[in-house]
Amino acid sequence: MNILLTGGAGYIGSHTTLSLIDKGHSVIVIDNLITGSKSLIPKKAKHYDVDIADESSMQKILKENKFDIVMHFAGLTRVDESVKYPEKYKLHNFEKSKIFFSLCIENNLKKIIFSSSAGVYGNNDSSNLTEESELKPINPYANTKYQIENFLISKKDKIDYTILRYFNVAGADKGKRSGLIAKSSTNLIKVLCEVAANKREKIIINGNDYITKDGTAIRDFIHVTDIADMHVLAANNLLKSSSSNIFNCGYGSGYSVKEVITEMENIVKNKLQVEIGPRRPKDIAVSVANSDKFKKKFNWKPRFNNLNIILSSALNWEKNNL
Ligand SMILES: NC(=O)c1ccc[n+]([C@@H]2O[C@H](COP(=O)([O-])OP(=O)(O)OC[C@H]3O[C@@H](n4cnc5c(N)ncnc54)[C@H](O)[C@@H]3O)[C@@H](O)[C@H]2O)c1
Repeated sequence: MNILLTGGAGYIGSHTTLSLIDKGHSVIVIDNLITGSKSLIPKKAKHYDVDIADESSMQKILKENKFDIVMHFAGLTRVDESVKYPEKYKLHNFEKSKIFFSLCIENNLKKIIFSSSAGVYGNNDSSNLTEESELKPINPYANTKYQIENFLISKKDKIDYTILRYFNVAGADKGKRSGLIAKSSTNLIKVLCEVAANKREKIIINGNDYITKDGTAIRDFIHVTDIADMHVLAANNLLKSSSSNIFNCGYGSGYSVKEVITEMENIVKNKLQVEIGPRRPKDIAVSVANSDKFKKKFNWKPRFNNLNIILSSALNWEKNNL
């Protein structure tokens, strides 16, 4: 396949580029490096340092190449920033994606895979979120995902889309070719890796009074390489068939914040400094995917459904990037 992939200098886009290239596909990356890092783009991928909404550059790239599929990862991803600057998120995520998709469609690139988020389910506290669960995004970031989903659905007569709703993506490439680079991240596993690698003093648990087995929140952590592989499966399917679909991307099981910290302590064979803080506003107790739809459709068997592997790979990457 010849893939047009936006956001390939970012965390998930770079891992997906690796998975595609490892399987012999060719990838052209569009990334303006607003938050990404050029060092994450695999050498075998061609990179254009342009904005997805730069109409003249995008027209040229779309006309000069014959793409089979477009995978759209590019966007801003910080919930806290989106609450502070909702207009920025509306422009960067929703408006720019709309321009980009319209250019793709105009140039006959009509097979689209889009990175959505479990954030579209809002504070729907559940250990069994299906694709049919109610959608009620509660922050501007998640709302942009919801709006782009609706935009794609509104074009369903013209395009074939696969919308992938990621749960908590974590871990890093096992060959240490890519991983998460994020400054001042609030991501639990990123912060934990920084503590384990002695780059940060302590980890704060945001609330230990939830109605869960140990009082801390439970999330469905999925290894980034499994997410990347899901894109390859979805792309192969999209190429063969003309059906549009929405899938949850999670393992269908969750770990509590305390369990994640304990597993990291086992890995480093050391107690880490942990502090109990208040709940974060609007955080929910449990968010776990029902991923039966993807499993059934693709006979999907994840390769890295193991907390130890997720944490070890993330920590190896963190140590590698001192
Ligand atoms: N990381 C997660 O846990 C998670 C969960 C759910 C959904 N997602 C979604 O998955 C996608 C990828 O997430 P990520 O964690 O890899 O993010 P990331 O920030 O690491 O990567 C995003 C990339 O997009 C690029 N970009 C942003 N705006 C652009 C523009 N206008 N033109 C060109 N390039 C642009 C950035 O430079 C960056 O390299 C995002 O759409 C995100 O919302 C991520």
